[in-house]
Amino acid sequence: MIRTRLVGTGRCVPERVKTNDDIARRVDTSDEWIRTRTGIRKRHVLGEHETTSDMAVEAARQACASAGIAPADIECIVLATTTPDMPMPSCAIMTQHKLGIRGPAFDVGAACAGFTYGTTVVDGLIRGGLYRRVLFIGAEALSKFMDWDDRTTCILFGDGAGAVVAVADEQDVPASDPRARGILSSHLDGDGRFWADLNIPAGGTALPPSVETVTEGKHYLRMNGRVIFSQAVRNLSDACEQALRKVELSPDEVELVIPHQANLRIIDAVARRTRIPQDKFVVNLDEYGNTSAASIPIALDEAVRAGRVDEGTLLLHCGLGAGLTWGAVVVRW
Ligand code: ACO
Repeated sequence: MIRTRLVGTGRCVPERVKTNDDIARRVDTSDEWIRTRTGIRKRHVLGEHETTSDMAVEAARQACASAGIAPADIECIVLATTTPDMPMPSCAIMTQHKLGIRGPAFDVGAACAGFTYGTTVVDGLIRGGLYRRVLFIGAEALSKFMDWDDRTTCILFGDGAGAVVAVADEQDVPASDPRARGILSSHLDGDGRFWADLNIPAGGTALPPSVETVTEGKHYLRMNGRVIFSQAVRNLSDACEQALRKVELSPDEVELVIPHQANLRIIDAVARRTRIPQDKFVVNLDEYGNTSAASIPIALDEAVRAGRVDEGTLLLHCGLGAGLTWGAVVVRW
């Protein structure tokens, strides 16, 4: 049986930093409010001429180097983003071009659930026998779509990219066997009834860009935070339980959870609901804020480089984003 193993990781965040105090100088908020309601202290944001693919390229190079695989030997690039360099071509193909390689490359759009959706797509490509070496990147630059005068959204988001190299591996054991390595199961879900609670209204076919859309600020991200918060707690916990149940693993067996980094209170609530101890959750949102599709691979790369992930470590990723879309993926390293 072919299974998908993750064999290299990398990350990149912009040098420029915006602290809570920087934001409080512009809108009516405070470092104390932001830290206690979200856990965020600062976020990294792209400069005027920097793009999503610039970060993706650096994260990809690091992931290839740590996997010991040359970028030229990558057979396909999948990139999760909702903030590509431009509406077309894809951010994946821009990244491929900047890496100086050739081959199929495409984007997956599932907002903050992009990493869970994307790893599931990559797993399908590899287990289906189409490719043996896939570069998967989560890269996002929501700072470029932020209304920096809207205190309900601008405090939350930051920019960044994280990457993994996924390879085909022949294995004879079932997923529940401790010798099984790689992506063991995934559970994805979505509910489009919530599309209006988190979106960027203009710039697509519903509301093409115009002087009016810009004047009215409709190219900025809009969010109903309370709705997203309660949906996130319920659906992330459910997805984690379902993904584990599919391979007959229990929450007790999970050694490390890499959740999407939206809000510390959401992560704490998911820990309580799933009964997985809080100290098993990787948290870095104090440093980066919510980097959407990039948050899980950035946290994964940090955990790997900090020595928190060994051969055989049982990991659980989970994320929820605009759509709503959400999912969880079980991986044994
Ligand atoms: N500073 C000070 N006060 C604020 C701020 C701020 N930055 N923002 C809102 N407030 C005020 C509100 O106006 C409100 O005042 P009122 O009671 O007088 O009306 C009060 O604080 C409470 O507002 P709430 O919205 O209830 O605050 P809450 O505790 O829910 O925190 C937050 C808001 C942080 C946005 C939270 O709801 C949240 O994290 N939601 C989830 C966001 C998320 O997970 N997004 C993930 C998906 S993102 C993607 O897919 C791209």
